[in-house]
Amino acid sequence: MQPGLALAPMAGITGYPFRLLAKEQGCPLVYSEMISAKGLLYNSRRHRDLLYFTEEERPIGFQLFGSEPATMARAAGQLEALGVDFIDLNLGCPTPKITRNGEGGALLNNPEHCSKIFGTVAAAVSCPVTVKLRKGWDAQNINILTIARRAEEAGLKAVTVHGRTVKQGYSGSADWDIIKEVKESLSIPVIGNGDIDSPQSAEAMFFYCGCDGVMIGRAARGNPWIFSAALSLFQGKQLPKPPSSVQIVDMVLKHFKLLIDLKGEAVAVREMRQHAACYIKGLPGAAATRQKLFRSSSFEETEYILREFCRCLQNH
Ligand SMILES: Cc1cc2nc3c(=O)[nH]c(=O)nc-3n(C[C@H](O)[C@H](O)[C@H](O)COP(=O)(O)O)c2cc1C
Repeated sequence: MQPGLALAPMAGITGYPFRLLAKEQGCPLVYSEMISAKGLLYNSRRHRDLLYFTEEERPIGFQLFGSEPATMARAAGQLEALGVDFIDLNLGCPTPKITRNGEGGALLNNPEHCSKIFGTVAAAVSCPVTVKLRKGWDAQNINILTIARRAEEAGLKAVTVHGRTVKQGYSGSADWDIIKEVKESLSIPVIGNGDIDSPQSAEAMFFYCGCDGVMIGRAARGNPWIFSAALSLFQGKQLPKPPSSVQIVDMVLKHFKLLIDLKGEAVAVREMRQHAACYIKGLPGAAATRQKLFRSSSFEETEYILREFCRCLQNH
């Protein structure tokens, strides 16, 4: 069996422009950035950009975070009405601003409450509902098996496992054994996540954990080609050549244009800085170019900086 492959939900990263680029590189499944259930219900205009998606992105999952079952169910209903393909629940976010409100990863501390959320949301919509979990709150409270089983009992259609505790944040390494354990104890599909940094490690996770799919987060930032490369590997084909500096710069500019169409140039220039830095990371001269990009205030200026960067690389 060929593993499923997914682009991880990443706040500030996986908006429509980046999802589309991942999709164009063959990524079969994409997720939105996490969206506040409360925010969606009470201030939906602010979420206009976050909610934007196109037919080309399907199948697409939109991710919700929150803590009140009824609020999450109503927000899920709104997402379903927009036509999303499935709804994913965030039970892993470690950001203190979120966990302080009992949302994201903090929910793992209360399996009973998780069951209520799962049941209420699943009953409120007819599209599939899935959940993304971490191992547990901290090393003393690893309870993902309990919560994943509750998700299955409540009728959720898939579980994604990020092999870290909430308290770990992004430190240490992801525990792939726990992904394997969850896979062995559930009948619904399990997607593994954490520390995939190459097509080879995507394949390694699939074989090690026996999971149904693998989800790539940080390694896809500035590198949508990771999906086409992983697919080639899964299909037993030769790995494609890494993108040239010209292809990288063209991709940055394409990303930038999509972002401008969505949010206008002023916002896009600011947001594009971190994306552009990821695309060129590791190339000779990237640090100095990043400094210039952070001072750029238009598409034109950014294009000039990047084309210059490219010329220097070619003469290197
Ligand atoms: C900048 C950033 C934003 C993230 N935002 C979300 C999010 O909105 N929802 C979510 O479930 N996980 C979020 N994550 C976690 C990723 O989805 C993923 O679980 C984590 O990065 C581990 O996978 P990786 O090692 O492939 O990056 C975020 C991670 C990063 C780095």
